[in-house]
Amino acid sequence: MSKALKILFVASEALPLVKTGGLGDVAGSLPAALKALRHDVRIIMPAYREAMRKAEKLAFASFKMEGIPETVRLLEGRLPGTRVKLLLVDSPSHFDRPGGPYADPLGHDWADNPDRFALFARVAVAVATNHAELDWQPDIVHGNDWQSGLVPALLSLYPKRPATVFTIHNLAYQGHFAPETFEHLHLPHELWGIHGLEFHGGLSFIKGGLSFADMISTVSPTYAKEIQTPAYGCGLEGLLNHRKDRLKGILNGVDYNHWNPAKDSYICANYDHRSLVKKALNKAALQKEFGLPVSAQAPLLGLVGRLVEQKGIDLILGILPRLVELGAQVALIGSGEKHFEEALTELAAIYPNHIATFIGYDEPKAHRIEAGADMFLMPSRFEPCGLNQIYSLRYGTIPIVRHTGGLADTVVDLNKETQSNGKATGIHFQHSTLEGLLWATERAIHLYRNEPELWRTMMVTGMQQDFSWKKSAREYVQLYQQALIQRDASTTP
Ligand code: ADP
Ligand code: GLC
Repeated sequence: MSKALKILFVASEALPLVKTGGLGDVAGSLPAALKALRHDVRIIMPAYREAMRKAEKLAFASFKMEGIPETVRLLEGRLPGTRVKLLLVDSPSHFDRPGGPYADPLGHDWADNPDRFALFARVAVAVATNHAELDWQPDIVHGNDWQSGLVPALLSLYPKRPATVFTIHNLAYQGHFAPETFEHLHLPHELWGIHGLEFHGGLSFIKGGLSFADMISTVSPTYAKEIQTPAYGCGLEGLLNHRKDRLKGILNGVDYNHWNPAKDSYICANYDHRSLVKKALNKAALQKEFGLPVSAQAPLLGLVGRLVEQKGIDLILGILPRLVELGAQVALIGSGEKHFEEALTELAAIYPNHIATFIGYDEPKAHRIEAGADMFLMPSRFEPCGLNQIYSLRYGTIPIVRHTGGLADTVVDLNKETQSNGKATGIHFQHSTLEGLLWATERAIHLYRNEPELWRTMMVTGMQQDFSWKKSAREYVQLYQQALIQRDASTTP
């Protein structure tokens, strides 16, 4: 085995403390997988009110950090359920408030987000350079998404620094602010400019990661290619193309302790690929819970996700009336843009025997949809990785996905070849159009009704796939080693 590395994992959310989406799942499980490979991993996160409530046995770690006002404390504990050391950046004026990590209870972004995540980055840098009284010097600092984008940028100014890795979970969220913000945050002047943090005249947090990290990764090989093109690059395709030798796609792993129908305590009947009959009990329970007629025959389609354009919710709305005509049922849980929430609620009121929605965030319900539905809809316009289709595979719930990003990399489309070699696990469609989604969904419903054996084979094949962290965690270790080489090449005179 290679030498054990000291890794500082920087994340703005992590399960089980705070989660708004897939980053929370990843930050809650990848550090533990790295720890299992015997690396010394610590995760640093803001001490949000919610995180403080859920964290256990916190101890005071430090209040003296280079370049940080004294009102900030560093607290130390463990990420609950793991042996990973947790550092919480406790600055009550920035993080102790009601609402989510990025937005107020009404869903509006906090106006002081630049201050909040600049402070977070500065504390991470103090820890990364061993200026936080912890007597611990990481070899690697691994940031995630725009909220930790300033970390590689600020670290680049230190002659003796750890190597930096930056993971893009979603390029569409960039942390882009007015140019005055740069002065307001007192960022070092040498970081300004188009080779630095400037983007279209404003300040871009994510560019700090993309321009300065020794290595960059994103969460699937296909998305790594897509973001180098104008259609998916969100204006940053030029920079990503320029740094393509530093950019790797590493598929997310999932936590099968948490997402496993054989052990899941949220569902009414546990099952695996040898006891598939029990999935029917979960279907009936889901129909009851969502107020749909209990019917073993009706194809039941599930959806769990943020109700935003990325996820193709407009396409779902467009095909729902046709699914009703086909006699299908749809159970959906999500929250997001108000107009999507309202339109879905309205359709559910028009077709109460076919469409049921739960607007809100509810982890147990999400598990019950995975267990009870026959198929899972994921018509995303883009999808860096996507986790729900991976959960669906394990729950024997056939995913219907657009051929993009991590969806293309994790679900094997049914075609002549994959049917005959038994590798198919789901249904793909190519274009983000109503016709595309409708074609795939009608095809799935047809197979479900008329090809029960093929359907069952696909379910069983999907349930046997292994997307645990084992393989991907090793790929991250290789990425860290490449980052160390790049760091040495750039800092030796
Ligand atoms: P993204 O990060 O883009 O939102 P992912 O598929 O990577 O998409 O991850 C989404 C995660 O959030 C999954 O674990 C999913 O189950 C969960 N999730 C999303 N919306 C809800 C909801 N309304 N209730 C419960 N869980 C949800
Ligand atoms: C993002 C992406 C999603 C990915 C998740 C975790 O939120 O939208 O595709 O699975 O991050 O990496």
